[in-house]
Amino acid sequence: MATPAAPPATGSSNLQELAKRHLWMHFSRMGSYADGAEIPIIVKGDGCYVWDEHGNKYFDGLSSLFCVNIGHGRADVAQAGADQAKELGFFTNWSYAHPRAIELAARIAGLAPGDLNRVFFTSGGGESVESAIKLVRQFHKLNGKPNKTKIIAREVAYHGTSMGALAATGITNLRQPYEPLMPGGCHVPNTNLYRLPPGYGAENLAEAVARRIEFEGPDTVAAVIMEPVQNAGGCFTPPEGYFQRIREICDEHDVLFISDEVICSWGRLGHYFGAQRYDYQPDIITTAKGLTSSYAPMGAVIASDRIMEPFLQGTNSFMHGFTWGGHPMCAAVAMANLDVFEEEHINEGVLENEPHFRAMLDSLRDIPIVGDVRGAGFFQAIELVKDRDTQLSFTKPESETLLRGYLSGELFKRGLICRADDRGDPVIQLSPPLIAGPEHFEEIEGILRPVLEEATRRMLA
Ligand SMILES: Cc1ncc(COP(=O)(O)O)c(C=O)c1O
Repeated sequence: MATPAAPPATGSSNLQELAKRHLWMHFSRMGSYADGAEIPIIVKGDGCYVWDEHGNKYFDGLSSLFCVNIGHGRADVAQAGADQAKELGFFTNWSYAHPRAIELAARIAGLAPGDLNRVFFTSGGGESVESAIKLVRQFHKLNGKPNKTKIIAREVAYHGTSMGALAATGITNLRQPYEPLMPGGCHVPNTNLYRLPPGYGAENLAEAVARRIEFEGPDTVAAVIMEPVQNAGGCFTPPEGYFQRIREICDEHDVLFISDEVICSWGRLGHYFGAQRYDYQPDIITTAKGLTSSYAPMGAVIASDRIMEPFLQGTNSFMHGFTWGGHPMCAAVAMANLDVFEEEHINEGVLENEPHFRAMLDSLRDIPIVGDVRGAGFFQAIELVKDRDTQLSFTKPESETLLRGYLSGELFKRGLICRADDRGDPVIQLSPPLIAGPEHFEEIEGILRPVLEEATRRMLA
C-alpha cells in the first residue's frame, strides 16, 4: 500500500480535529490517527514546494500524486478557470458542445500519436479506464464480435478503483475486499526486469501476452491494457521491442491495445505521451492527472478513427457518459496548462534534466539497502533490498517496519515528499514536478542519502 507520512503529534489545531472527525481520506489507515498522530495538512504550494499548516516547507517529490506536472502556484493557469467560469461556468457534453471542450479535443488530437483523433472527456483516470473498457466491449459488439469482452492486464498494475477498472488492476489487496469483480480481468507478468526468473529472457514477457490470449481464446479477448512505464511495483520500464511486439500480437488476434497513460502522459516521460517515448501506436490512450497539471479534475479517452467508426453508423452511440466530462472550466485550465507546456518547453526540460536526475539516484547505489534504480523521465524508483548480492527482498513485516516505521515519516520530517510503497517489493518513488532541475536533485539527495544510510543500519545490522 502507499504509505502516508504520519509525523508525531506536535499539538493539535482545529483543522486536525475536524479532519479526524470528518475527513475520510483515501487509501488511508484512519485508525492510525486515533493515538494523537498528526494528519499532514498541506496548505500552500509554489513551484516544486508545498507548506504544511505549521509553516514547514517540503520538496514535493511526487508532484502530489504524479500529477502537478507544471508545479504548484500557477496563478495564470488557475485564472483561466476563473475567466471561463465567468463566461460559462458549466454546460454538459451530453448532446451539447461548448468552445473549450471542442478546442481542447482538437488540441489533444493534434498532439496524440497517429490517428488518435477522437477525444471523450472524463473527470479522472479511473473514469477514463472504465470508459475505455466499456468502449472496447461495445466496439467489438458493433463489429459482430459480442464475445470479445476480456481485458488482459499486468500483475501489480494499478488502473483505478471502480469495479471495471479494478478488474484490470492487478493488486490482490486492492481487489479482494470487493470481489466478485467484473468478470474477464486476466493478468500476465509485468516487466519487472530486476526480478526476471533465472533463464527467463525479457523477450518472453510479450510472448506471455500472446499465450494468455490464446489460452483464453482470441474471440473472447477485447483488449490489452498497459502503462508505458508501470507505476505500481516501482516504475517498470519495457524491454527493447516489447510494445512493438504487443502491437503485433494485438493485430494478430484482433485485440485492441489500450495505453493507460494516466501518469505517463503530459511530460512525465519527456513527451506528451508515453507511447511516443517508446514509439508504439495504441488504439486508445487513457489519460488524466497532468492534462490539467491537476489544477482541475479532468481525464480523457483518446481513441483512433477506427475505434469511432462503428459509432458513426446509423443510430449507434456510445451509451456512456459523466455529467462533468469535458467541464468547461477544466477544459480552460487544460488549455492554459498546455500553453505552459509549449511556452516553457516542459517536455524538453524533462529530457534535458533526466540524465541529471537519474545520475543522482544512481549515485545512491553505494548504499547497501539500494538494490535497483529504474524508471524513465521524471518517474523513477529505488527498490530496497535486504541483500544486494542475492536480491533478497524484505518480508512483509520487515517492509512494514522499514517503510511505515521509519522511511516514510523520516523523509517527510526532513522535508521530502515521495512515495514509499510495497504493493510489490518495497520501493521509494520519485516523480517531481517537471520544472525541477539539478539544484532540486541535489536537495533530494541531501535528504535521501542519510535516511537510506540510517535505514541500512537499522534493517541490515
Ligand atoms: C495508470 C493509472 N490508471 C488509472 C488511475 C486512476 O486514476 P484516478 O485516481 O484519477 O481515478 C491511476 C491513478 O493513479 C493510474 O496511475
